[in-house]
Amino acid sequence: MQILRGEPLQPYNTLSFQARAAALVRVGSDEDLLAAFRWAAEHGLPVVPLGQGSNVVLAKDLDALVVRQDTRGIEIIGEVDDRVSLRVAAGENWHALVQWTLQQGLYGLQNLALIPGTVGAAPIQNIGAYGVELQSCLLRVHALVIADGRSLTLSNADCEFGYRDSVIKHSLRDKLVITAVDLQLSRVPELSIGYPALAEAFAQADAGSLTPRDVFNTVVSIRRGKLPDPAVEPNAGSFFKNPLVPAEQARVLIAQFPGLPAYPQQDGRVKLAAAWMIDHCGWKGYRQDDIGIHPEHALVLVNYGNGTGEQLLSLASAVAAAVADIFGIQLVIEPRVYR
Ligand code: EPU
Repeated sequence: MQILRGEPLQPYNTLSFQARAAALVRVGSDEDLLAAFRWAAEHGLPVVPLGQGSNVVLAKDLDALVVRQDTRGIEIIGEVDDRVSLRVAAGENWHALVQWTLQQGLYGLQNLALIPGTVGAAPIQNIGAYGVELQSCLLRVHALVIADGRSLTLSNADCEFGYRDSVIKHSLRDKLVITAVDLQLSRVPELSIGYPALAEAFAQADAGSLTPRDVFNTVVSIRRGKLPDPAVEPNAGSFFKNPLVPAEQARVLIAQFPGLPAYPQQDGRVKLAAAWMIDHCGWKGYRQDDIGIHPEHALVLVNYGNGTGEQLLSLASAVAAAVADIFGIQLVIEPRVYR
């Protein structure tokens, strides 16, 4: 295990911001991770786990031991009837896992194709797209507690999942490093194609003949069509969460702003499209120096080259202020911000 001092983090975050880590280590096993915890404690540094850095804003150097997980492994750990349980190492790439499951004839992840990042990061924000969230197929999260190296297993219920939310963003924030995730998939396809963009894509299709592979391919092509590739235009995906508001507030807003996309939730609240609101305020395609809002998607903030985290956060504040002014809604930043 090699500890690198003063390591540049630009290659480790998809917004490609220049920041340095006091120290960085790449770990390949639980033993490495425990050794990293001990090293950090001896040097008085906090531990900051980083997956592929696709959901962080690095607006300053990190006075921490940054732990990059390079663990690999996908293992079938159980099979009952059509249900198959998998254990996946935290360092595996999420999209590669989705592809692997389809190749094996294991279904449930096809709507979650092409989401950047690692498997270990996925439960933290309960990744979701095109009508499916990770929580629908997650069995357990395995982690090590930074303070004492203890193993911890969180059940699905323990994770307290919500929209882009889990207990790991709240009471367990900064307390653990996820080492593996157990998922339950099915050998029998159950398709979820109700999300408007998918329903539209399959409007002419014979629903009975659609396969999970069709859903996967369509999600990939929709995402490629509207979300910029971080490798080309550095970004962190959706920069704000879609706000959840009481039904009455949504009704009043829709009356005032016809066309505002609104998705009723099971709990009675309504999710509104933040992208539409930002777009309506005229911010789409805005650019100052090397920081801007993507011309194809108003929810994606981009670093076009030498922008800084502070510049991006100041643009985000201006956007949020405009939306608050016009819609009376306070947008919440989705990625983890270090400033
Ligand atoms: N829209 C606009 N202007 C735009 C972009 C979108 O008016 O510039 C409208 C669209 O026409 C659509 C609505 O806004 O009616 C929603 O747009 P979209 O379907 O692109 O989804 P989103 O709400 O912006 C969310 C997730 C995405 C996920 C998609 C698909 C959040 C914060 N974002 O985006 O997740 O891929 O739905 O399910 O919930 C991410 O988290 O990084 C992410 C990309």
